[in-house]
Parts: sequence; structure tokens; C-alpha cells
Amino acid sequence: MWELNTFAHCLMTTMDRAVLLLLCACSTALSAKPNILFIFADDYGYHDVGYHNSDIKTPVLDQLAAGGVKLENYYVQPLCTPSRSQFMSGRYQIHTGLQHSVILDTQPNALPLGSATIADKMKDAGYSTYAVGKWHLGFYKNAYLPTNRGFDSFFGYLAACEDYYTHNHCDFFNTSICGHDLWDNTNPVFTENGHYSTHLFTKKAIDIIQKHDKSKPFFLYLAYQSTHSPLQVPSQYMDQYSHINDTNRRTFAGMTTCMDEGIGNVTAALKASGQLTNTLIVFSADNGGQVQQGANNWPLRGMKWTLWEGGIRAVGFVYGDMLKNKGTINRQMIHVSDWFPTLVGLAGGNTNGTKPLDGFDQWKTISENRASPRTEILHNIDPLTKPRGETLYNNTFDTSIRAAIRVGKWKLITGDPGNGSWTPPPELGKETTVEQDDALRNLWLFDIPNDPSERHDVSAANPDVVKDLLNRLANYQKTAVTPVFPDGDPKSDPKLHGGVWRPWE
Ligand SMILES: *[C@@H]1O[C@H](CO)[C@@H](O)[C@H](O)[C@H]1NC(C)=O
Ligand SMILES: *[C@@H]1O[C@H](CO)[C@@H](O)[C@H](O)[C@H]1NC(C)=O
Ligand SMILES: *[C@@H]1O[C@H](CO)[C@@H](O)[C@H](O)[C@H]1NC(C)=O
Ligand SMILES: *[C@@H]1O[C@H](CO)[C@@H](O)[C@H](O)[C@H]1NC(C)=O
Ligand SMILES: *[C@@H]1O[C@H](CO)[C@@H](O)[C@H](O)[C@H]1NC(C)=O
Ligand SMILES: *[C@@H]1O[C@H](CO)[C@@H](O)[C@H](O)[C@H]1NC(C)=O
Repeated sequence: MWELNTFAHCLMTTMDRAVLLLLCACSTALSAKPNILFIFADDYGYHDVGYHNSDIKTPVLDQLAAGGVKLENYYVQPLCTPSRSQFMSGRYQIHTGLQHSVILDTQPNALPLGSATIADKMKDAGYSTYAVGKWHLGFYKNAYLPTNRGFDSFFGYLAACEDYYTHNHCDFFNTSICGHDLWDNTNPVFTENGHYSTHLFTKKAIDIIQKHDKSKPFFLYLAYQSTHSPLQVPSQYMDQYSHINDTNRRTFAGMTTCMDEGIGNVTAALKASGQLTNTLIVFSADNGGQVQQGANNWPLRGMKWTLWEGGIRAVGFVYGDMLKNKGTINRQMIHVSDWFPTLVGLAGGNTNGTKPLDGFDQWKTISENRASPRTEILHNIDPLTKPRGETLYNNTFDTSIRAAIRVGKWKLITGDPGNGSWTPPPELGKETTVEQDDALRNLWLFDIPNDPSERHDVSAANPDVVKDLLNRLANYQKTAVTPVFPDGDPKSDPKLHGGVWRPWE
């Protein structure tokens, strides 16, 4: 509890002021709500952090993770919008209509209103709420802008895949629809051309930390675009990677190191302003790495966009003085949807005003290594991906639909899960094993703790497990809302809005 009343009482009393003020200072310091800094790295693969792969230099992340709790059984979603939507809402995509793909710039689509976001709940709990970086949760109406979704301020990109220097980008499908996308609250910013976004977002985060009114706790959502494509970085960050021959990988490695430096600068600003000891830092990748764009998930199978482990098993850690078991590795099942109840709970908030959450409060799991309240993860059910093969088991779930579920040690995948190649990092100089599966094959079962690289499908030997997991998928599907994936709207074209991607309805 935050002892605001004690503080007020302190100031008013005519009793022994010195003693009371001392007590008051102690109780405030001990019981003040923690600040929360949540950092998303974009398209950052499992093999792209120094503590998983010493060829990549991330000294800051390595040090923070080593002094905090490394999450080594941590899952996210295979794409940007899906993971961000689950972080913001605490809800699975089957419950928000965002089952399919990402929100495209021209689509009139967004994380639906009607359920409070994590920022709304932090604000209710007395926090100042700041967002810096990439949004990618829809912007076609003003109501969907970050400053209308619980954030006091926003600086960054509404969409995705921006040029790191010009802050412009073109639509994913129609590359003749292009515009500028850098925002300071609801105003477009044209004065930062040439300023690399990792530096820019770092500087904004530091400004916020320095100017923050310390009588309130803060929630800072720092969503770097690093290390998403386009592959761009100031050359000095690539200097130490001359041994990596592959140009994409070398550039990507530089982007990683630059982001690491930025997080080091943000951490130093927290320390210099006396706020580090009362700040919980969470670091998370938003999805698996895109191996065609320099990232890597070795030894996991698959990549970004896919339901293989390489798409969803992520780098994540938590750092902060309030952790009881600093310096440990946590192997409990934790999912990106869990941050909502976990962080709001830590903030002493409540989940009033949300629709039913799919996340679990994992604070004791992380801080004390108690057993995770989560025993399963619905990775997704996406009826809009082209069906593959036939229904294999009667009266259960239609196995032609793209879906995956994890229950205990078992993971079941159906439909078309996406590219299931095993891709070693170029610096290892090994061959990629391209998936050779039958094009109509649509069901796999893996024992993940014993086979994290998904090399041994054990569905044939475990038909009862398969049926049980298919039934669970069918039960989840009964609770799903209709997926929303509208056609692009010509009215979104930046040419109609002063060259800017902005709300058009
Ligand atoms: C791409 O967008 C431009 C401008 O709106 C339009 O004229 C063109 O028809 C679009 N192309 C496709 C393939 O949709
Ligand atoms: C970190 O701070 C140093 C020193 O001010 C600066 O030179 C560097 O560009 C900063 N890095 C990032 C990524 O912001
Ligand atoms: C949640 O909202 C209800 C109704 O407004 C209120 O009675 C209750 O006290 C709230 N719970 C918390 C924990 O604030
Ligand atoms: C599904 O039903 C068909 C027709 O009744 C039957 O031939 C087939 O063996 C059943 N498949 C399974 C896996 O039970
Ligand atoms: C799958 O990804 C690998 C790279 O890891 C690539 O070599 C292969 O061509 C991809 N397969 C398809 C069908 O795109
Ligand atoms: C990188 O290139 C150098 C020079 O061409 C070569 O000797 C080395 O084996 C290459 N390394 C890898 C991992 O391919």
C-alpha cells in the first residue's frame, strides 16, 4: 500500500515532527509503489541475446538479466500486433478478433474498445503512464490512439516497419501507398529526420525519467522498433562484428548492440535520478526472430509468423530490487498475456473494467519461484489462414485450421503452422535444414521439455493426448469472437492527409 494518508498525517501533526517525519520517510520509501519500465524488443530472436549466444554483444541485457530473473520458459505470440494486443489487454486474440496476421496500415481495424488496457489500469492505480516507441494496435479513429488508451503521453510510431532515419514507410501490400509516421501525442513530428529511432526513443525515455514527478509512480512502455527490419544502423555499431560475413546478420547484430546501449542509457538515467532501486524492469521480445532479416532463433524450429517454437518462445527477463530471488533462472510457464494481471497487481491496482482476462498473476512465480498458476497456453486459433489438409479426427477440432495449444509438456499444432525450417545463425557456418513435410500434413504433437527443437512428432504414439488437446482447442474455439481482418480503406492513403499516416475516420 502507498502510504499517502500517513504522509498527509505527518505534515499536519503538531506532535514530535522529527520522529514522525522520519517514520513517514521510512514508510514511504518502503511501501511506495514500484515504477514499472516495460521494454519490448521487436523481432528479436531467441538466439539474439548475449546470454544465449556469445557472438552477439549485449552486455547491458546480460548484466540486467544476470542480476534479475531470466524467464526461460516464456512465450509470446508470433507477430507484433498479436503480442502487443495481448500485453495491452491481457486477453487472447480469439477474444479480441485479432486472430489473423497484423493490423495493416490501410485497414480500419484496432484493438477493440470496451475492455480497459493495462495503461488504463495503471492510471487508475495512481501511475503516470508513458508510451515511447511503436504502437501497432490500430489508429484509424482517434479513439484508438495511445493517448486515448490510458497513456498520458505518447512519442513514436503508430504503425510498423518505419525507416529508422526518415520515419516513413509504405504499406506492406501496396508499396505505392507511403507516408510519414512519427508522433508526439497527437501531433506529427517532422523535425527528427536523420535521427536514428533507437537513439530518439532512448532520448525520449530519458527525458521522461528525468522530468517525472516523483510523488507518483510511473509506468513507462518502451517499445523499440529495434531489431525489426529495415536493417539499418549507424556503422560504428557494426565495427565489432566484422567476423560475421553475412551482411544481414552483421547489420542485425549492430542493431542489437545499439538497442543494448540505449537500455544501458535508460538504466543509467534511472540510477542518476535515484529511481532505479524502486523500478521494476521487464524486458521481452515481441515475437520470434525473422531469419530472412538477420535474426535467429537457434536451436528452435521456425521463425516469426509461425507457430513453431522459433516464432513464440522468447527472450525475457525481469530486473529489480523488489525480486526476492535475484540472480536466478525461472523455468515456469509464463506468457505475454500474464503481464497485465501481474503488473497491475504489483501496482496495487484492480482489473475492474476489463473483459475476462486470459492472463495470470505471475508475480510470486517470478519473484519467489512459486509454481505457475498457468498450466496451458492457447498459442492461437486462426480460421483465416488458408486451411491445410483434412479433418483427421471426428467430432473434435477441425485439423485443417491453423492452431496450436500447449498443455503441460504437450504441444499440439494443426493446419498450416508456417515455415518449419531449422536455421542456424550464419556465424555458426552450418546448413539450414529446410522442412521436408508433406504439403497436406496438418497435425503434430511434441513433448516440448524433452524436445524443445520440435524434431520428433509423437502424435501417432499418443492418440489420446491428441484427442484431448483437439477437444480443448474446440472448447476454446466456442468462446472465440469472429476474426476481424477488413479490406484496406482507400481513405487511409497519406496522400489525402498531408503525407502522414493518421486517423482517417
Ligand atoms: C495501390 O495504391 C494506389 C494508390 O492508392 C492505387 O492507385 C493502386 O491501384 C493500388 N494498387 C493495388 C495493386 O492495389
Ligand atoms: C547512450 O549515451 C551515449 C552517451 O551520451 C551516447 O553517445 C549514445 O549515443 C547513447 N546511445 C543510445 C542508443 O541512445
Ligand atoms: C470495482 O468496481 C466496483 C463497482 O464500481 C466497486 O464496487 C469495487 O469497489 C471496485 N473494486 C475495486 C477493487 O476497486
Ligand atoms: C471418422 O469417421 C469416419 C466415418 O464414420 C470413420 O471412417 C473414421 O475412421 C473416423 N476417424 C477417426 C479418427 O475416428
Ligand atoms: C523457410 O525458411 C528457410 C530459411 O530458414 C528458407 O531457406 C526456405 O526457403 C523457407 N521456405 C519457404 C517455403 O519459404
Ligand atoms: C567468412 O569469410 C572468410 C573470408 O572469406 C572465411 O575465411 C570464413 O570461413 C567465413 N566464415 C564463415 C563462418 O563463413
